[in-house]
Amino acid sequence: MNKAKKDELKLSRETRTVQILGFEDESSGALMPPVHFATTFARDAEHYQTPQGRSYLRCDGPTQELAEQVLADLEGASAALVFSSGIAACTAPFHALKRGEQALVSKTIYLGVLSFINEFAESWGISIDYFETGHLQDLEKKLVKGKTRLVWLETPANPSWVVTDLEAAAKLAHEAGALLAVDSTAATPVLTRPLELGADLVCHSATKYLNGHSDVIAGFLAVREPSLEIWRRIREHRKFGGAILGSMEAYLLIRGMKTLHLRVHRQCENALQLARFLERQELVEQVHYPGLESNPGHPVAKRQMQGGFGGMLSFQVHGGKKKALEVLSRALVFKRATSLGGVESLIEHRKSSETLETETPDNLIRVSVGIEAVEDLLQDLERMLQA
Ligand SMILES: Cc1ncc(COP(=O)(O)O)c(C=O)c1O
Repeated sequence: MNKAKKDELKLSRETRTVQILGFEDESSGALMPPVHFATTFARDAEHYQTPQGRSYLRCDGPTQELAEQVLADLEGASAALVFSSGIAACTAPFHALKRGEQALVSKTIYLGVLSFINEFAESWGISIDYFETGHLQDLEKKLVKGKTRLVWLETPANPSWVVTDLEAAAKLAHEAGALLAVDSTAATPVLTRPLELGADLVCHSATKYLNGHSDVIAGFLAVREPSLEIWRRIREHRKFGGAILGSMEAYLLIRGMKTLHLRVHRQCENALQLARFLERQELVEQVHYPGLESNPGHPVAKRQMQGGFGGMLSFQVHGGKKKALEVLSRALVFKRATSLGGVESLIEHRKSSETLETETPDNLIRVSVGIEAVEDLLQDLERMLQA
């Protein structure tokens, strides 16, 4: 098919991702991109220009750029930047704030971001306040017009999976003159696209679902309006802070994202079945999963998550930490490990992984549901909870 005909096709996001936005290597016809390891690019004699305007890999690598284009397309973003880790992506907007500006942060977020804020942001003169996760009235109360520059939240929020109404949060933030940034790692762009709901920035630990195979550390930020001053400063921060992703990792991310939709749909199906099973178990005190009708966040999740409720869930067991660890000790199919979003199912005693004082209950077990046959996962959970 010729190029003009191809351009007429209105392909779905899923197809565009699988086909790397129609990538074909011009010189060889290869359907997978080359990995450009070169750190520098040659200039011609006549105009002292490089063929594509690139000069140095830390500023603009071709493999990194292709990964960014795929993510931008997935998120419906105008532009995206790939980072050396999820935490580098998450903390870049804080680095981009100026002394005296305030970030208003949801209380339940990834602990690494909280640790960064505690250790660095405040000592640099960035003012920080917190609001109750998912509580729009509290968000509204804490916003300070003319001072709050950034609202930072995560939905569903780890490890309680509390859901925040993004459309409403964006409206409140904008009315106060602030930007809304969303860590959407758990939702993935398959289920929620925060920029389409009014958020200004979206962040991912691409280590998780976007790569999906537990073998790359990477992060992304994407933006709705690239002319924002904060986006310029984020780009400068990446360039001069040096949090750039290696070329091989960028390639692996591109490869991982090709199967994102397939993996996430399967993870959502498996997670819902596990959550429903857990709800019926005597030893289980409470299940936290936005896909359950009993979950307080379910109505909002139903509206803002399309095609499923994610692969992450938590549950609390009767008998405290001792019982939770005993349950975990019997896992044979689930791997006892932290992290999330890979194709293999992981299970952990969350509090043991946390390095800060948090509200996470001592009897909470966090599950990252993989793509295994669900009957094997159900059987494992049944054994863990009964013996
Ligand atoms: C929601 C969320 N955001 C950000 C991060 C940080 O990502 P990384 O470990 O890739 O630096 C994590 C890591 O667990 C996470 O779960």
